[in-house]
Amino acid sequence: KAKRLWGGRFAEGPSQTMERINASISVDKRLYLQDIRGSQAHAAMLARQGILTADDAKKIIAGLEQVRAEIEAGQMQWSESLEDIHTHVEMRLKELIGEAAGRLHTARSRNDQVATDLRLWVMDACREIDGALLNFQRALVNRAEEHLGVIMPGYTHLQRAQPVLLSHHLLAYVEMAWRDRARLADCLGRAAVLPLGAAALAGTSFALDPASVADELGFGGVFANSLDAVSDRDFAAEFLFALGLIQVHLSRMAEELVLWSSMEFGFISLSDAFATGSSIMPQKKNPDAAELVRGKTGRVLGDLISLLTVLKGLPLAYNKDLQEDKEPVFDAFDTVLDSLLVMAPMVETMHVHAERMELAVHHGFLNATELADYLAARGVPFRVAHEVSGKAVRLAEERVCTLEELSGEDHARLCEGLEVELDDGLKQALDPGRAVDRRISPGGTARQNVEAALKEARKRLWP
Ligand code: ARG
Repeated sequence: KAKRLWGGRFAEGPSQTMERINASISVDKRLYLQDIRGSQAHAAMLARQGILTADDAKKIIAGLEQVRAEIEAGQMQWSESLEDIHTHVEMRLKELIGEAAGRLHTARSRNDQVATDLRLWVMDACREIDGALLNFQRALVNRAEEHLGVIMPGYTHLQRAQPVLLSHHLLAYVEMAWRDRARLADCLGRAAVLPLGAAALAGTSFALDPASVADELGFGGVFANSLDAVSDRDFAAEFLFALGLIQVHLSRMAEELVLWSSMEFGFISLSDAFATGSSIMPQKKNPDAAELVRGKTGRVLGDLISLLTVLKGLPLAYNKDLQEDKEPVFDAFDTVLDSLLVMAPMVETMHVHAERMELAVHHGFLNATELADYLAARGVPFRVAHEVSGKAVRLAEERVCTLEELSGEDHARLCEGLEVELDDGLKQALDPGRAVDRRISPGGTARQNVEAALKEARKRLWP
């Protein structure tokens, strides 16, 4: 008969199916380190408070150290009948040190224990994702510096709109990543509240000192309400939202890499390391890594919805439903981390076809706004200037030429009836490079702005 932590009041064991759906060990064994750290801090505190003898605490802490070593050496015997990581660790501890192990759970429940473990795990995970985001930002900034001066079409509605610098485009993703990192930091702050000491739901009669445990484990504070402490998973939901948005940002970039590497765009070639071929079409080089990042967004967003749905109908305080919180958290973490780990080198190694980008800027009338602005700067009301420029586009379309290829007479005729002197400035105004450099409004794509932004980014990312 299997040993259970709650066997006392039961005459019979659980059915096989019950045992299977009740077991979370295949998922929550990932919490072993957090579980052991938490238990060691708890035992040390119990001893400081005179609740455990110093001798028992010493045995417990050393025994837990051995359990950790065994798990890391792959020697732990995992078994569904032992339900979860907490039971496994405690049962093994008992085998190792005997009776003293039974005192570890004084003034504690698995309810505050699991909440502590998961918070510790999420805190570490926030830091790890933050580091991966930093690397991703660095990759983007390196490429943006390297290609400063490369002009490409900026798009709205995926129609060529106005010329922008490739570096400006890449820096847009750096901005998203700053916000992502701020969200993670915020999430970490709220995760770093210790629930240990809430016990099952009501607190405990033992005189605990949770603040010292919080200190030891790196928490910033201690729970205020025991019912909330054991049932709150807001930190996990926030973490999943932060991850979801990171993945959405990556997915948008992945979509662009897919488009840009197509023959239709021809803006980049991806390194072979992030592509695959076709089993039938020998010429194919498919941007699989980018597609997978885009595709995996579905599961990360699913993870967020999954947890929110678990939470939505739960009465206070702990309910076993909460055991379902870990799988989405782990899955989203693994997926987002891998996505960051593949996107950064994909950006680092992609080959940029600057000439194709610049060629694209010259087709599609991306300088139509320049013509309108030129006229507006010379006193023509912008709405009228817009109309004139639109007519110029139509004329050029008929002639199958560009705006700059229209003749001086064409432009004069288009402006007939308007009080405006056309001069040499018109030709210059239509030049895409100058169009970029005129965009000096704060945050605009002018080279001087982008240079300053890159300098700033370098300072922040390589302090
Ligand atoms: N494995 C459980 C979980 O993940 C631990 C807490 C179990 N508590 C209980 N009262 N059954 O939520």
